[in-house]
Amino acid sequence: MGSPAPGKNSCSAPQDSNRRSLLARGAQWAAAIAAALFLYPLLRFTAFRVPPKPRLIEVPAPLPLSGVHTGHDFILFATSDGVTAVSRICPHLGCRVNYQQDKQYIECPCHQSRFTPEGRWIAGPAKKNLPIYEVTLKNDAEGRATAYVVKL
Ligand code: FES
Repeated sequence: MGSPAPGKNSCSAPQDSNRRSLLARGAQWAAAIAAALFLYPLLRFTAFRVPPKPRLIEVPAPLPLSGVHTGHDFILFATSDGVTAVSRICPHLGCRVNYQQDKQYIECPCHQSRFTPEGRWIAGPAKKNLPIYEVTLKNDAEGRATAYVVKL
């Protein structure tokens, strides 16, 4: 009475196998979704980068009579037309450029690219202008300029 009919066992074996593989596939998907739900915020957290703060460099004002200050990362020009700060990093291969006071242009010592004091490319393999930095004036209580602040 309690034993199954002889023909029933042979038919249920493929259904059990299908059910087991379906359950196993469901468990794999559930594990994959759980791993993704755990890893996504973790990866977002580790990949998060705080943007660097700009560096502010103060150059005492007024500049010497030449109107030029050569810093480590920039060259500052203060003329009657205004104040300009250009990068000293050559856009060709990254050498540090120098201002040629007698020739009135900026020259790269590596491959002789030349630029105007405003940073515009004149000649040489660089083919790009020098980056320009923002300059603001710092005044004292009486309104006299005490420093140029270059934002790198
Ligand atoms: S690195 Fe300046 S011209 Fe090549």
